[in-house]
Amino acid sequence: MLFPEVTAVRAEAKRGVQFCSGQETIRLSITSCIMSIVQLPLITATDSTPFAFLIHFRKEIRKDLACYHPRLEAIPEFICRGVFEGTNMPALKWGGVMDDVMGRELGSNQLIPLSAETMIRRNPPKARRKIESTLDKLVRKGVGIVGLGALTAPLMKGGLLLRNRKDIGVTNGNAFTAVIMYEAVVKLLVRNPDLSRRVAIVGASGSVGSCLARQLVRRGGVDEVLLIARNVPRLERLRKELKGINPAVRLTIGNDIADIRSAQLTVLLTASTDTLVQSEHLCPDAVVLDGTQPRNTSPSLLLDRPDVTVIDGGIVKADGIGLSGGGLGLPSHHYFACFSECVLLSLDGHRDHFSIGNPTLEHVDHITAVAHRFQHYGFQLAPFLSFGKPLVSPYNT
Ligand SMILES: NC(=O)c1ccc[n+]([C@@H]2O[C@H](COP(=O)([O-])OP(=O)(O)OC[C@H]3O[C@@H](n4cnc5c(N)ncnc54)[C@H](OP(=O)(O)O)[C@@H]3O)[C@@H](O)[C@H]2O)c1
Repeated sequence: MLFPEVTAVRAEAKRGVQFCSGQETIRLSITSCIMSIVQLPLITATDSTPFAFLIHFRKEIRKDLACYHPRLEAIPEFICRGVFEGTNMPALKWGGVMDDVMGRELGSNQLIPLSAETMIRRNPPKARRKIESTLDKLVRKGVGIVGLGALTAPLMKGGLLLRNRKDIGVTNGNAFTAVIMYEAVVKLLVRNPDLSRRVAIVGASGSVGSCLARQLVRRGGVDEVLLIARNVPRLERLRKELKGINPAVRLTIGNDIADIRSAQLTVLLTASTDTLVQSEHLCPDAVVLDGTQPRNTSPSLLLDRPDVTVIDGGIVKADGIGLSGGGLGLPSHHYFACFSECVLLSLDGHRDHFSIGNPTLEHVDHITAVAHRFQHYGFQLAPFLSFGKPLVSPYNT
C-alpha cells in the first residue's frame, strides 16, 4: 500500500497536469512534487493530538442551527431556547475537523448549548459548570487539548479558571487571534498610511486587545494608539507596560465608545454582546475592524454611513482543513483564528496549556512559528470579508 504522503504527492502532480499545458505543466508538476516532498518531514514530524474546540450559540439560536442544516432556521426561536436552554442538555458534537492534507479527522467542534447572552449575563455559573463537565467528558475520550471558542474564553477568565486542570491542555486561542488581527491592521496601514495617525482599540485591556496592542507598539509606525475599555486603572497598567516596549508610540486612554470618533481606524475587541458602534461614533471614511463574536457592529451601519468600511476581524483561511457536520457560519475553508490556534497546537502535538489569560509576545512568536511550520495547510489572514461577504474595496487588493 502506498503511504498517504506519496498519494498526496501524486494527486498534487496530477492536478498540475490537469489544469495547465505545455512547459508550464511540467514546471508546476515538478514544483508541486518538490514542495510536497520537502513538506513530508514536516507533516510526519509530530504526532498530532486530538483536540476539541468549544462553541456556543451567538445571538439567535435558530440562525446558528442553520449552519448545521438550513431548514433548522424555520424553528421558532422560543422553541429553540426551550429545547437547548430550558433543559440541562450536555455539550453536543457539532462536527468533525478534517485534515484534508492527510485525509483524517483531527478533532471536533463541541457545542455548549447556551446562547452568548445566557453565558455572559443570564447564568454564567451554569455555563461554567457546563464547560467543566464537558472537559471531564473530553478527557475520558482522550482529547489532549481544548480551545475555548468565542465567549467561553472571557467566561472562564481567558482560561485562568481552568489553569489548575492537569488532565487536559487549554488554550483561549487569543495569541493567534491577536496575530491575525495584527496582520489585518498592518495590511490596512500599508494600503492607507493615513490610518496610522490614530488607531483605536476598543477592549484594549482584554486578552486579545492587549496582545494586539503589544504587537502594534513593538512594530511602531503608528503615531498614536488610543486604548479604550471601561476600567481605567487596567488601561493605565497596560499603558505603562506598553511604554516599556516602545516609548516612541504615543498612547492615550479613553473609557467611552464615543472616543473612537477621533480615530481613523478602530479595532473592536470587547467581550460585549451589544451593538456598541453606532454611525454617530465614527469619523468620515473611518475603517472598523470588528473582531468581536457576537459582533459589536450591525449591517445597518453601512446603510447609514456608506463612507465607512467595516471588516470582519480574526478570520483565517486554511485550505488544508475541512469540516464535517455543522459549519461555523463562515465561507468554505475560512475559520476563526482562535479555532486555528487550537488546530495548530494539535498538529504540533501540544498537550499542555497554551494561551491562558492575556497572551504574551512569546506566545505570539511561538504560534507564528507553528503556523509557519504547518503553512501547507494555509493558516493565513483571509482576504477581507465584510459581514461575511467579500469586501469590495482597494483595502482588499
Ligand atoms: N475571531 C476570533 O477568532 C476570535 C478569537 C478570540 C476572541 N474573539 C472575540 O474577541 C472579543 C474579545 O475577547 P477576549 O477574550 O479578549 O475578551 P476579554 O479578555 O474579556 O476582554 C474584553 C475587553 O473588552 C472590554 N469591554 C467589555 N465590555 C465593554 C464595553 N461595553 N465597552 C468597552 N469595552 C468593553 C473589557 O474591559 P472592561 O471590562 O474594563 O470594559 C476588556 O478590555 C470577544 O468578542 C471574542 O468573542 C474572536
